[in-house]
Amino acid sequence: MSRAGLDKDPREVAAMFDGVARRYDLTNTVLSFGQDRRWREITRRALSPKHDERVLDLAAGSGVSTEEFARSGAWCVAADFSLGMLSVGRHRGVPMVAADALRLPFQDESFDAVTISFGLRNLVDTQAGLREMLRVVRPGGRLVVCEFSTPTWQPFRTIYLNYLMRALPPIARAVSSNPDAYVYLAESIRAWPDQRALAELIAESGWTDVAWRNLTSGVVAIHRAVKPS
Ligand SMILES: C[S@@+](CC[C@H](N)C(=O)[O-])C[C@H]1O[C@@H](n2cnc3c(N)ncnc32)[C@H](O)[C@@H]1O
Repeated sequence: MSRAGLDKDPREVAAMFDGVARRYDLTNTVLSFGQDRRWREITRRALSPKHDERVLDLAAGSGVSTEEFARSGAWCVAADFSLGMLSVGRHRGVPMVAADALRLPFQDESFDAVTISFGLRNLVDTQAGLREMLRVVRPGGRLVVCEFSTPTWQPFRTIYLNYLMRALPPIARAVSSNPDAYVYLAESIRAWPDQRALAELIAESGWTDVAWRNLTSGVVAIHRAVKPS
């Protein structure tokens, strides 16, 4: 199995990430021209974890974002269903849990905040994932989603979509351990709701005070929301 389809069969998605795990972080940095580090720092600031808080980083992959969030002193746990991705990140010193985002092995209201970076797009059911995150966060707790989105300026959007469909696959072939997975990446970004549509999905899933900000002209958007008290 080399890549998942847009139906996002969970077994195919997990196997695909197992297949890219070894060089995943390096490939991200190359394909994003080094922007990924900045996106993660800004996500941490949006999450604003306090030192006594419990934070769930969902679909955390190798835990690269979890490590960034843990710099705040908060207790941050990485959860993912790809054992390949988790084991690549085991040197990071953050707790890691093998878990399906749609059936989390945590009690209701057990976290102060939940966050998901470049993972929500991969869930087979976006709203079921958002509702499961709502379940495990305490009332008044926060959600921060960092995800690819839609560039806001039309000329740039055209260049970016060309990059995704034409330039990204050959670059991925040079650096990734499973280049076919990056065809899925390009397709899934194109099929993903834009900023406003994602905000609506988040609100429909039970979250309030939904807001977003664009990074890199909308290549990435950070959505924030709060669980009603
Ligand atoms: C693009 S990677 C992002 C990893 C990491 N958050 C980052 O920012 O680098 C997407 C991750 O979502 C995970 N994932 C997808 N569906 C999942 C699910 N239902 N439950 C848990 N993890 C899932 C994959 O295994 C993969 O590690």
